[in-house]
Amino acid sequence: MRRWTMDDVRTDLERRLERAFAVVHPGSDPVLRPSGRADLQANGAIAVAKSLGRDPADVAREIVESLDIADICDEVEISGNGFINLTYSSEYLAERLAAMAGDERLGIGFTTAPEVVVVDYSAPNVAKEMHVGHLRTTVIGDALVRMLAFLGHDVRRENHIGDWGTPFGMLIEHLIEMGEEAGAHELSTGDLTSFYQQARASFDADPEFAERSRRRVVLLQSGDEETLRLWRALVAESVRYFDVVYEKLGVLLTDDDIVGESYYNDMLASVVEELDAKGLAVVHEGAKCVFPPGFTNREGDPLPLIVQKSDGGYGYAVTDLAAIRHRVRDLGARRMLYVVGAPQTQHFQMCFAVAAMAGWMTGGVEAEHVSFGSVLGADRRMLASRSGGAVKLVELLDEAIERANAAIEERRAADPTSVSSAADAEIARMVGIGAVKYADLSTDRVRDYVFDWDRMLAFEGNTGPYLQYAHARIRSIFRRGEVPVPAPLAPHLGDPHERALALALLWFPVALDETLASYSPHKLCGYLFEVASAFTSFYENCRVLVDDERVRASRLVLCDISARVLRLGLSFLGIEAPDRM
Ligand code: ARG
Repeated sequence: MRRWTMDDVRTDLERRLERAFAVVHPGSDPVLRPSGRADLQANGAIAVAKSLGRDPADVAREIVESLDIADICDEVEISGNGFINLTYSSEYLAERLAAMAGDERLGIGFTTAPEVVVVDYSAPNVAKEMHVGHLRTTVIGDALVRMLAFLGHDVRRENHIGDWGTPFGMLIEHLIEMGEEAGAHELSTGDLTSFYQQARASFDADPEFAERSRRRVVLLQSGDEETLRLWRALVAESVRYFDVVYEKLGVLLTDDDIVGESYYNDMLASVVEELDAKGLAVVHEGAKCVFPPGFTNREGDPLPLIVQKSDGGYGYAVTDLAAIRHRVRDLGARRMLYVVGAPQTQHFQMCFAVAAMAGWMTGGVEAEHVSFGSVLGADRRMLASRSGGAVKLVELLDEAIERANAAIEERRAADPTSVSSAADAEIARMVGIGAVKYADLSTDRVRDYVFDWDRMLAFEGNTGPYLQYAHARIRSIFRRGEVPVPAPLAPHLGDPHERALALALLWFPVALDETLASYSPHKLCGYLFEVASAFTSFYENCRVLVDDERVRASRLVLCDISARVLRLGLSFLGIEAPDRM
């Protein structure tokens, strides 16, 4: 498996184990796993014993004999069935923590092999509402972008907005009919649904309007100046509205990241030509198609990917083929992530297969559909507004801030030591938006989840507000105690709660690596929740502001690293961490 980060407490151990395993059986995998009996467990001896036809415990003993590990572990125990149980020495943990405390990056190194990584995410459609489905792609994509960029990859955010195709004929005609100014106002203020629906209604009810719309599509495709001007206006007003949503959501996307479907227009003919020249395209029911092997419909017949329709027009699929070719050839992408909902799984699998057949993804270039499930309402159906329509993302975000505000006021009323401040509105914004993002990111992306205000805004459990609160509480220790953050030192880990917290903190780079290995932000969420829980146990059991200076400094270092792990970890998720709450 490819490692995203290299220098961490797991890798340290793994390298030593690999060497010892190689002595007994070259090329074998130590299979290092977390364990309930020790800090970690190497299970690889069992497979080695099997392939050598020997006793597992015997093999494990032989491996341990050549294991040079005294500076990392102070306990190595072999169980009867050949598991090797490993326990870090406290000195080793303390030393690594001292290094972590003095490192702005908290022990997360830069990748040794930076790559151009394209992340294709958000991608709303022009003149259509951004609904809650766009929340997922935007928030998950943004988190992946932040993590990959932190490791030093050359990340290209690409917002593949739907800004081209036959609906634009009717949309432009509708814009003309309602007057450019009024239309622009409606679009930029986010009344996209009504604009689209009215255009659709005219198209369906008025044959003349429909005919004008069809002619308009032809004009658009042939590059008519006036038509292009109107089209640009439509796109610009919609983008202005998308920006409002991105700003509110606090994601990195800007106008510079927009590389919509229209961008690939000029490349489509040559993509089809190349497929033709390579003998991959065939005419099927009048349309030009590629049949990638292994894809069949319900009847078991081969499934075509249509690259050119019978009327000569191009569609969604060939646009994605052009995008792949462009990203690899012209941008030098080594890796392409498509953060798009599960219904498009087959589309992407077919596009990737055809791109591979055409030779556009050779030499280890990888494309991955980072798929995700739906957001459901309490009735376990697609989340809907009271009127039954899709929920507007921008309204959802405003409601989140309002509810966070109410939750904070409630806490203030219940806790006499907490004082309201001028920063409360800003805190409510961070908590509200953070809660929505965290609820989305903390469930395994492939699953559907139920949108539940009370749960996501709770100050207990695996929630955004809980982690933000844990961070703010640690900061308040320094504030209230009027103590500065001590210089980095190797903390004394005498108490088991100190040691457990230390190990949790040192796991940060490993958690990031595991998160990126499957592009699953929920793994990072689970890790941060563990850190917050380990901190709580530590804080309940170990007094920090004691008189003994050495103990105090040592515990303050643990506090400081904990707060910084939470803060940096939340920032990877695109969530802000206020210093007080
Ligand atoms: N605009 C599309 C939609 O709303 C999503 C585009 C995803 N990206 C892509 N390269 N196809 O369904």
